[in-house]
Amino acid sequence: MKKTLTMIAFMTMASIGAVAQPKLMKDNIEDVLNAMTLEEKVSLLVGKSRFVIMNGVPTGTTSKVEGAAGETQAIERLGIPGTVLSDGPAGVRISPTRKGDDNTYYATAFPVGTVLASTWDTELVQRVTKAMGEEAKDFGIDVLLAPGMNIQRNPLCGRNFEYFSEDPFLSGKMAAAYTKGIQENGVGVSIKHFMGNNQETNRNEVDSRISQRALREIYLKNFEIAVKDADPWTVMSSYNKMNGKYTQQNRELLTTLLRDEWGFKGIVMTDWGNKEGTVDAVNAGNDLMEPGSDVEVERILAGVRNGAISEEQIDTNVRRMLEYIVKTPSFANYHFSSKPDLKAHAQLTRESSAQGMVLLKNDENTLPLKGNETVALYGVTSYDFIAGGAGSGQVNTAYIRSLKDGLENDGVRVDETTADWYSKYVAYATAASKNNEVGGLFWGKTVLPEMQVSSKFITKREPETDLAVITISRNAGEGSDRKNVEGDFTLTQTERQLLQDVADTYHAAGKKVIVVLNIGGVIETESWKSIPDAILLAWQPGEEGGASVADILVGKVNPSGKLAVTFPVRLFDNPSTKNFPFNYEMSQRRWPGSFKKAPVRNVDYTNYEEGIYVGYRYFETKGLDVSYPFGYGLSYTTFEYSSPAVKATSDGFVAMVTVKNAGKTAGREAVQIYVTAPSGCLDKPSCELKGFVKTKELLPGESQTVSVKIDNYSLASFNENASRWETADGVYQVKFAASIRDVRQTAKYQLKKPLVWEVNDILALKEK
Ligand code: BGC
Repeated sequence: MKKTLTMIAFMTMASIGAVAQPKLMKDNIEDVLNAMTLEEKVSLLVGKSRFVIMNGVPTGTTSKVEGAAGETQAIERLGIPGTVLSDGPAGVRISPTRKGDDNTYYATAFPVGTVLASTWDTELVQRVTKAMGEEAKDFGIDVLLAPGMNIQRNPLCGRNFEYFSEDPFLSGKMAAAYTKGIQENGVGVSIKHFMGNNQETNRNEVDSRISQRALREIYLKNFEIAVKDADPWTVMSSYNKMNGKYTQQNRELLTTLLRDEWGFKGIVMTDWGNKEGTVDAVNAGNDLMEPGSDVEVERILAGVRNGAISEEQIDTNVRRMLEYIVKTPSFANYHFSSKPDLKAHAQLTRESSAQGMVLLKNDENTLPLKGNETVALYGVTSYDFIAGGAGSGQVNTAYIRSLKDGLENDGVRVDETTADWYSKYVAYATAASKNNEVGGLFWGKTVLPEMQVSSKFITKREPETDLAVITISRNAGEGSDRKNVEGDFTLTQTERQLLQDVADTYHAAGKKVIVVLNIGGVIETESWKSIPDAILLAWQPGEEGGASVADILVGKVNPSGKLAVTFPVRLFDNPSTKNFPFNYEMSQRRWPGSFKKAPVRNVDYTNYEEGIYVGYRYFETKGLDVSYPFGYGLSYTTFEYSSPAVKATSDGFVAMVTVKNAGKTAGREAVQIYVTAPSGCLDKPSCELKGFVKTKELLPGESQTVSVKIDNYSLASFNENASRWETADGVYQVKFAASIRDVRQTAKYQLKKPLVWEVNDILALKEK
């Protein structure tokens, strides 16, 4: 390594002798490019940080900001600064402490991607990410490696918590809002992971085999929307292969599609790993190799020398790097404070997370509480809340608000005897988990095993309390998928027993039981959802999680979140499950690589056999029962929909509907617009989400007419035989819905002539 750097330094010195030395400015990029030596150019294409393990956490070693994941190379003689790249989707991930420095650098753990999507509120998302971007800038970051926006193809993907939805339209719109919020601050995003990274098992090698139609309509559509709507500074290519090629080395993907078709102007960087085939990555239009290694520098230099990479290609990629660099705070020599307004951001987290929580059940108006109750608070995570998932999406936050604290701050009494038992258990289990005796989750917050509570204890506490709340939690994260086993997708025996015992005791006394789900991804709910009186899906709502939950439980906030993903009855109802590495034993055969035999299905390659029938597209078209449908979520009030209308425009239509708060509590409604296409065109799902809007807070009796623009292109399906998007003529049913299974009003849109958009015949699936 030393040798290469010395060599570059020497060659650089030798070749610059007589050349003029322009300093980089916004308007002299060509001059700077012309003044650069080949070695300097190549140095800009390979990240400067190196992958290290710090306190057991894999991270970058950037010279500017400790714990940031990546950095680009500086070239001082040309006035090119290094720039800093940091995770991640739920807030800035840097080291909270620094050697020889007494200050702390904690960041805000904002709500995870699934929470943001469940708000169905793009304005709110933009407000949250505006604050996140401010924080990034205040910590000296130029690009936040976010949002994670892969499609939640299967409930068990370990990183679903970072991602938005099973639906590409919702995912794309959320990513666009997210991007706008961050970039308003003059720092960039890196939308990731482009693309086909829908499982974590063997993510570095797995080949995602996807039909052209499913690519275009599902797995690329969300990225297309984000790129076209929000102009992200950077895109991160994924680790995996897609249809036989690493995405980072696929020119059809990174150049023909992303740049030529969609008009992307920024840089593409790899995800964090050095792969063979760096030459192909450069030629594909992958501008930056992260986190960077000397091996990659050598490979690129060799590639240029032996003609495998043209100088023109190098210049194209370097030009894009320079265009990126001149936009950054580092280039502007921004003096960052390292002191973001953590208090204001905590408050924003508290408010926004509450908007993304989904009330799944509320029999007999169990909720909201009156606020003067005494609650028996069960479940270990009630006292040790989970803010976000594990891996690079984790944030080093100063604290996580527990549900106990949240409730008490909102004036609810928490039964002390119950709390004492749990607090002691949490202390014991946390210590034991540090010694690896119990629980444990690599590179993330440890999830403590549930405490066994005797029915005798419950019976004793019941007379002292007015109701019981039980928190059930799950955590998962980068590098592995969740498992179809008890305690992961389904409840453990201990959890079931606790729920049943508490419910038996409290129901016998005419008292209510509420379940709070502090989870990052979908779990099985069908078998137990009849037991409690109310269920609040809190997801992983950031550092103020316990406060946001309490605000809903006591009715300070009327829940308005809705599901961005379907909760199936059974895991195997989901069509992707048969092609998902749910069988952990099987994936262990190959990963982590004990021996290599014939390629293992769902480990070495995964067939996306379900095609476009992902999530609700499948459940609706098949008419299958689900536990909770896409778009579902209750409120403390009710809404009436009236006056549906569709007005044609030059390139589509505007859909309008009036929503009235027909109940007694102020609240907001996420209105969804699904469209059913006329028959006679390509085979299509029975309906698809094409628009959504969240009302303002409506007072009882108040109405709002909401409108959404939908264009003809977004109604199109992809005909892979003709390589073109097609919108058939005929009558489209426009459905105004409270959830996909709760259509309130319909209108019609008539398209008189069919429309087509020809595109490149690329990314074909050759190997079956
Ligand atoms: C993850 C990325 C992350 C990067 C840098 C990778 O392992 O897949 O999402 O941005 O690390 O930490």
